[in-house]
Amino acid sequence: MKLTIIGTGYVGLVTGACFSEMGSHVTCVDIDKEKIDNLKKGILPIYEPGLESIVLNNYKEGTLNFTTSLAQAAKDCNVFFIAVGTPPGQDGSADLQYVLQVARQIGSVIEDYAVIVDKSTVPVGTADKVRAQVSKELEARGAAIEFDVVSNPEFLKEGAAVNDFLKPDRIIVGADSHRAAKLMRRLYAPFSRNRDKMLFMNVKDAEMTKYAANSMLATKISFMNEIANLCERLGVDVENVRKGIGSDSRIGYSFIYPGCGYGGSCFPKDVKALVKTAKDAGFVPTLLDAVEERNNLQKQVLGNKVINRFGQDLTGRTFGIWGLAFKPGTDDMREASSRVLIKALLDAGARVNVYDPVAMDQARKEIPAQEQEKICFAQDQYSALDTADACILVTEWKAFRQPDFKKMASLMKERVIFDGRNQYDPDEIKEAGFEYHGIGRELG
Ligand SMILES: NC(=O)c1ccc[n+]([C@@H]2O[C@H](COP(=O)([O-])OP(=O)(O)OC[C@H]3O[C@@H](n4cnc5c(N)ncnc54)[C@H](O)[C@@H]3O)[C@@H](O)[C@H]2O)c1
Repeated sequence: MKLTIIGTGYVGLVTGACFSEMGSHVTCVDIDKEKIDNLKKGILPIYEPGLESIVLNNYKEGTLNFTTSLAQAAKDCNVFFIAVGTPPGQDGSADLQYVLQVARQIGSVIEDYAVIVDKSTVPVGTADKVRAQVSKELEARGAAIEFDVVSNPEFLKEGAAVNDFLKPDRIIVGADSHRAAKLMRRLYAPFSRNRDKMLFMNVKDAEMTKYAANSMLATKISFMNEIANLCERLGVDVENVRKGIGSDSRIGYSFIYPGCGYGGSCFPKDVKALVKTAKDAGFVPTLLDAVEERNNLQKQVLGNKVINRFGQDLTGRTFGIWGLAFKPGTDDMREASSRVLIKALLDAGARVNVYDPVAMDQARKEIPAQEQEKICFAQDQYSALDTADACILVTEWKAFRQPDFKKMASLMKERVIFDGRNQYDPDEIKEAGFEYHGIGRELG
């Protein structure tokens, strides 16, 4: 099948690469010329395990192509995936300007029956808006071309995106026409061979499913962070509580790790957007409001712990931060907890040394210039601790799991560890001569 993917970011590139890997002919379109030029040279815009080889092989085979011209990609193509960003607007709603712009562009280029697939995360009712934009464009052209709009939300996780796409738990398709549903079944057949993973529903149900899934996961995290804060005040170790409740099959172990808050391009914006959708519908989403508030507070927890330990004025202090990405396996720093921590430490007068195994370049692009003046971008995890007053673990990369404590002790000015992801055994840390501050384990 011939596909056009519009928007070649995390979702668009992974979607395009994986469909081409399964035999479709894919053209990825983006307005960012530099991104497209780089892709043609084999330079990927993102770090994602396993993605590079799939992109390079399929580009070489001619089954995956890149262009800035939608008109060129659209020739003989009747499946269009919209995979552009839907960032939060001022009021928290998903900003649909890019999605609707692409809808108009699609309306201006299709020549034959087309299925237009909303892959971006978009609020309930967006497919109707996409349909209206395409129709308007077709009317302006005087073209009577049939088309369907399908919702096919993406559930990949950054850091495991290729695997998630190739081996999905489920494939949600919201389609109001039999013709479109049939085409989507054919398209996804290679991903659904060992069992039928496809769940068909109407378009609005599919749109809502994506927001409900992300909000549920965010709720689990915020719930556990709330319990952790309470544990800390009651002299309870939340890690024992986590294992205790996770062993209940109704609860399970995933997404109940206490920490310093969730970030990334999805959970924060999707919870906000669902809150806005609810309020627009005249419903007060009490629980979702609290999920977001708890997360905002949780991102401040590490900074507050450092201030409690070292005082309000951190002038003359240096802190080594391990991990900048919002989670391991990605260089994505959007809404990362590290951003809130760095700002809090700098505002209190400290200097910070930072190290992340893959997000250093991204950090240089994203951290404001006035903050970078007081930041040292370290060569490796140990040089980030040179003369540091404390080591602060923010992202639980594997490289930080079993560090050389002797080496750390020899480099650091004071032997203090703030463990924002509860990666370490407090007793082991204390035996190694360090003071330990975790999340939900003791009042640090
Ligand atoms: N990143 C994730 O983990 C993830 C997972 C599931 C769903 N989603 C959703 O998928 C959507 C895309 O997210 P992303 O992280 O891939 O975004 P991204 O910012 O990485 O990529 C979006 C791309 O779209 C391009 N673009 C914008 N307007 C365009 C236009 N008119 N024509 C062509 N290209 C255009 C941008 O240049 C950019 O390269 C969002 O709605 C997001 O919520 C993201």
